[in-house]
Parts: sequence; C-alpha cells; structure tokens
Amino acid sequence: MKKHKAKFFMGAVLLSASLSAIAAEPLMQQAQELFKPLPADMGTQEFPITPEKVALGRALFFDPRPSLDGTVSCSRCHMPALYGTDGLPKAIGVKSRDNPRNSPTVLNAALEFVAHWRGDRKNVEDQAVRALIGPPSFGQPDLAAAMKKIEAIDGYPAMFKKAFPNEQNPINAENWGKAIGAYERTLVTPSPFDAYLKGNARALPTLAAAGLKRFISTGCTACHNGVGVGGGMYQKFGLLEDYWKQTGSTKIDEGRFDVTKDPADKYVFKVASLRNVAMTPPYFHDGSVATLPEAVRIMAQVQLGTTLAAGEIEEIVAFLNSLTGTLPKDFATAPVLPASSFKP
Ligand code: HEC
Ligand code: HEC
Repeated sequence: MKKHKAKFFMGAVLLSASLSAIAAEPLMQQAQELFKPLPADMGTQEFPITPEKVALGRALFFDPRPSLDGTVSCSRCHMPALYGTDGLPKAIGVKSRDNPRNSPTVLNAALEFVAHWRGDRKNVEDQAVRALIGPPSFGQPDLAAAMKKIEAIDGYPAMFKKAFPNEQNPINAENWGKAIGAYERTLVTPSPFDAYLKGNARALPTLAAAGLKRFISTGCTACHNGVGVGGGMYQKFGLLEDYWKQTGSTKIDEGRFDVTKDPADKYVFKVASLRNVAMTPPYFHDGSVATLPEAVRIMAQVQLGTTLAAGEIEEIVAFLNSLTGTLPKDFATAPVLPASSFKP
C-alpha cells in the first residue's frame, strides 16, 4: 500500500493562504480522477425505474405487515431519521432476534458492486427478496407466506397491477424485489462533495479540502474511491494488524471466508461506501466502534500502518462530513400505507 506522506507541507501553513488558489485546481483534478459525482438515480437497463414501481416499492419498504409477526419493515432497520440505518451495533429483527452484523445505510446502496458486508447478495433486488425469509429479518418460513400477507392487504393488488401491467399474477417475490429495488434506486443523496466534483471549489470548507488532500495522500483512496467513495471492491479488514486488536470486537467475524470457504477470503469485507458516513454510527461490520474519528484512526492504523495525528484525523473527518447529502423527499417521510382488512 502506498504510504505517501505530505508532512513536508505541514510547515507551510503560512503560505497556504496564497497557495490555496493554485492548490485548489490540482486537488480538484485529482479528486475528479478518483471519484465521481452521484447520478440523478441508480436505475439500469436491467432494473429500470418507473413511477408506479417506485410508489409500490416505497409503500412496501415502510410496511411491517408482510413480516412474520407484523412488526418488522425494511424501515425498522433502515430508518430515515438515522440516514437509513438503525443506530445499533447489530440489528435486531423479528421476535427480537439478533443479526450478526451492523445495518448499513440503504442510501446510494444500489451503486455498490454487491450488497451486504460480505457480498452475499447480488444487488438490492436480490437483497430485498431474501430479507423476507431471513430468520433475523422478516422471518417468514418461505416467500409464499409473505406474498399471502401482501395479497390480503387491500390496495396492494391494484398497486402491483399498475407497477407490472403485463403480468397475470404480479404479486410475487421477484416483483417485490423489483419494486423495492426501484425505490432504492431513487435514494441518492447529493452532497457538498458532489458540488465540488462538478467544479464548485467553494463547496468544500477549507478544513474539508485539507481533509480531502489528506485522504488522498494517506492512501485511503486505494480502497475508498469511485462514485461511492467505496463500495467497489473487497479488501481484507486488518491488512497490517488484526482488526479486532483495534476495534475491540469480541466476536471475530471471518468475513467473506464464511461465504466462499476460500482461505484467501479470511477477514475480507466489502470496502464500505463512505457516503453519509458521518450520519451512520456505529462503525464497521460489527458496529464495534462508536465514533467517526476513532474509525478513521483505526483504518489508517490497520489498513495503511499509519498513525494519524489528532489534527490529521480532524481534517479527514471534515472531509467525510462533506459526504453527507440531502435526504430524498420520498425517504424523509413515510408514506401512508394501503388500508388493510388483514388481521394479524
Ligand atoms: C432486522 C433489521 C433489518 C431489516 C428488517 C432489513 N434490513 Fe437491510 N440490512 C440489515 C443488516 C444487518 C444488513 C447487513 C447484513 C450483512 O451484511 O450481513 C442489511 C443490509 C442491507 C442492504 C445492503 C447495503 C450494503 O451496503 O451492502 C440493503 C440494500 C438493505 N439491507 C435493504 C433492506 C430492505 C430493502 C429491507 C426490506 C425488504 C431490509 N433491508 C430489511 C438489517 C435489516
Ligand atoms: C486496503 C483497503 C482500505 C484502505 C486503504 C482504507 N480502508 Fe476504510 N474500509 C475498508 C474496508 C474493507 C472497510 C470495511 C471494514 C469492516 O467493517 O469490515 C472499511 C471501512 C471504513 C470505515 C467505516 C465505514 C462504516 O460505515 O462503518 C471508515 C470510516 C473508513 N473505512 C475510512 C477510511 C479512511 C479514512 C482511510 C484512510 C486513512 C481508509 N478507510 C483506508 C478498506 C480500506
């Protein structure tokens, strides 16, 4: 891993005012090469967005009634008020069952190359379908049981029909995944950093710009790059030191190894996207670290063998704050759900 240190420049603080005009340009260019601004939405040819699918998916996302005990919705663990997370180290699902890992945000999640910390879900559609039968999630014994509950709710049959007009029996698990996926593909959160990447140098406060520079020079961008500032590859967590020595994790998660059984995948996780990261504590796959400065310190230590000074951490955190975007209107408030004659 590249360990380019720019400490040399630290003494030049006095010059920085006059240099900043010049430095602004190369830094922005560097950033434009490493990152990309968010698209308007995350629809693809394979998973196109239509207003009907999004309206249905939004209702389903917030609806607890399809779950085993009628209390668990996607939004229980991906709450708007907490930027699409639940604030817990590890999520708690149906019948208070513990999840093995921390809830990542659903915001911008459709950009990532795979879903889940260990990449054991293909995309947001696959994720949504399998959440129905996840024992610590919706807890349904099978997909048909979930579909039966949806069918029994007045209002959904018509919404499915509208979203999938050419299908005889549109209420099925695949369409549940497509509808929720279409909704998730609208959940983009443009941030000050996106404005910066589009050419507005003033979009980043001075400390955040210093943090961006530090983020690049420290080597964070070897893994956290692209449109998600992460979310584009797998890497071992703890390249230079066992991660749990720094995080204090009590249960050691072997990461992708448990999915593939390939020894090369031990302690390998998806590189987390850092969009909105300031809003989504606690940190890491097991929520073992409570604050962002501590997560940044640990990352530099275990991934790059670099001990960051407090001021350097402060800069990087200021940069990460610039990745906090605006919540989509259709996510900030929950929809009114279709009325139901269904009794649990
Ligand atoms: C009980 C809490 C809970 C519920 C309910 C829940 N999730 Fe999650 N979600 C999680 C956890 C925990 C993970 C991470 C799992 C892992 O990586 O092993 C996750 C991961 C995800 C991801 C992947 C994000 C990423 O960065 O990889 C998406 C997308 C997602 N959930 C969407 C949904 C949707 C849509 C629903 C409803 C169909 C849902 N979730 C229901 C807790 C929950
Ligand atoms: C060699 C690849 C690599 C490098 C270099 C790297 N990271 Fe990470 N980063 C990861 C991986 C993998 C994870 C997910 C770890 C986990 O929780 O399993 C992660 C997670 C994080 C998280 C927690 C995100 C969350 O939502 O919980 C933060 C914050 C972070 N990195 C910041 C940084 C910073 C700042 C740097 C530079 C000092 C950096 N990373 C360097 C691979 C890397």
